[in-house]
Amino acid sequence: MTCQYYTTPIYYVNAKPHLGHAYTSIAADVATRFKKMEGTDTFFLTGTDEHGDKIVQAAEKENTTPKAYADKISKRFQDVLPLLNIENDHFIRTTDPQHIEVVKSVLSTIYDKGDIYFSSYEGIYCFGCERFYQERELVDGKCPDHGTVPETIKESNYFFKMSKYQDWLIAHIETHPDFIRPEQYRKELLSFLKEPLEDLCISRPKTRLTWGITLPFDEDYVTYVWFDALVNYITALGYPDGERFKKFWPSTRHFVAKDIIKPHGIYWPIMLKAAGIETYNGLNVHGFWNVQGSKMSKSIGNVTDPVEVTEKFGVDAFRYFLMREMVFGLDANFTEDVIISRINSDLANDLGNLFSRVLSMNHKYFKGIIQGQSGDSDKGLSLEPEAAAALEGYTAAMAECQFHKALASVWDLVSTMNKYIVANEPWALAKDPARTGDLGTVLYELLEGIRFVAGLIWPVMPETSGKIMVALGLGLPEKGFFSLDAIRPWGQIPCGATLSKPRILFPRVEVEKKEDAPPAPKPFKPALKEEITIEDFSKIDLRAGKILSAERIEKSDKLLKLQVDLGAQTRQIVAGIGKSYAPEDLVGKAVIVVANLKPVKLMGELSQGMILAASVKKDLILSGFNGSPKPGSQIK
Ligand code: ME8
Ligand code: MG
Repeated sequence: MTCQYYTTPIYYVNAKPHLGHAYTSIAADVATRFKKMEGTDTFFLTGTDEHGDKIVQAAEKENTTPKAYADKISKRFQDVLPLLNIENDHFIRTTDPQHIEVVKSVLSTIYDKGDIYFSSYEGIYCFGCERFYQERELVDGKCPDHGTVPETIKESNYFFKMSKYQDWLIAHIETHPDFIRPEQYRKELLSFLKEPLEDLCISRPKTRLTWGITLPFDEDYVTYVWFDALVNYITALGYPDGERFKKFWPSTRHFVAKDIIKPHGIYWPIMLKAAGIETYNGLNVHGFWNVQGSKMSKSIGNVTDPVEVTEKFGVDAFRYFLMREMVFGLDANFTEDVIISRINSDLANDLGNLFSRVLSMNHKYFKGIIQGQSGDSDKGLSLEPEAAAALEGYTAAMAECQFHKALASVWDLVSTMNKYIVANEPWALAKDPARTGDLGTVLYELLEGIRFVAGLIWPVMPETSGKIMVALGLGLPEKGFFSLDAIRPWGQIPCGATLSKPRILFPRVEVEKKEDAPPAPKPFKPALKEEITIEDFSKIDLRAGKILSAERIEKSDKLLKLQVDLGAQTRQIVAGIGKSYAPEDLVGKAVIVVANLKPVKLMGELSQGMILAASVKKDLILSGFNGSPKPGSQIK
């Protein structure tokens, strides 16, 4: 029997579970369930990452100890799992004593091998990420993840010789196209590896941080977050001697988002290599969920609680939405409108209606007794080829973690069935006693199609899958699901059996209309540009300027050449205001100037900046001041 081990990141316990955590865990759960349907022996791990500065700080804020704090938040992560129908086989915590032992033994092995050395280091450090950065990794001098300016820190620490294994890693990624998926992330890592790797700082002096695992070779230091965290994946299997480890390692695929691709795609394989452990099979990297178009953040107040969404819309609808909406690897946007529209169209309308319609017709025409004829292909009534095609598309997409495509493939079958009803008009067949046989066949084919769909949606919507199977009189096998091999054969629904009454699988979500709501403001024309942050805005250097002189540029009725006093300097600016203003009217006017615009040449004249004006139909009206600011004053 083949084996497959899936993991999620172990989540930091400094915040409660949100939409992003739920997504990775549900994606890994869906992948695990699918593997089970293929007949694979699976092990699925999730857990919490509990050491480090951030946890100490969060605990201090609540006036409690790091351990008590970690216990509380870790429990929250554990409690969410059943609410989201996530069936993990184990939940690991980095404070588990067994984990701590394994981290120490891996560190000792690598230290004894000579791949860890002691050195003094000065570098820029992001406390949010708990890691040193290289200048070139920063965006505008800030941490790309936290948007904060990293601090310069100097201290003596232990370092892991990652550089020694750089060539090995490049060769490994190049010869294993499956190692990092999707392809864009594999390319990203390979391109990062073109630059020399810096060695990894793996320790913290206890003078600065005690909430960690003590180094086995130096009592005064604890290990640094990543060296502790990544090892969880093997501890959980009982490394080094556990049966599970022997069975499931290295048949492993880690699920992570793009934020932690480097620790997983670089540090981790190199740590394993240095420790003499075979590296894992693969890494599945997904994009980020934004909420209402922005990155989730406490300050914006858009951190989405997966439990609230589940309570509002149902767990299957939530899981379906996450898997259908995000293209694995790319970012996606979460808004209530989108989830409601998915529920109403894909679930209530397409699938839910199909199900209740087919059951109703069976009750109406045959008192709910299943008529036993599978499709007569001479009359083109069989749905089996469409079902087989859906299965094929679904399986191929699932193998690639392209969950949205797998579901689209199933929904192709749903939509084929809805069209099949329209084309075959069961209501017309029912009026012609000579065609009762055909009517039975049509309804039987539809029931079989629904059985197929119910089987295939199980990894994503286990509850709905079970409800449909039971309604079809099939019940559930002992394991709770049907294997792909069990789904495949056409014509399994027992004829002569009685179908249960139709029920509503997914009620439509009525969108509340706010009657008294004020009328929506009229949209700006042209449409408002993309939102920017205050940081984006602060890149524009706006200054008060005073026009010293103005003259027309030959051969242009629009362009004026202005000399503008900006305090410390005088600038020549070419402005397209010649149709609205005469040069002599401009002299002495105070205007707003974009002072850091890249200089350009317009009709042969240098223009070093831009003057702001409102555009009203064909006219331009210069911006100005209610007063006369000193030229060069900053505008904020
Ligand atoms: O990084 N969209 O923990 P973490 C999608 N402890 N997924 C998101 C997301 C978003 N907006 N935000 C977070 C850590 N995630 C370390 C990991 S592993 C050995 C140690 C998910 O709590 C996604 O899976 O910051 C991401 O990789 C993870 O949460 C980061 O979780
Ligand atoms: Mg994070």
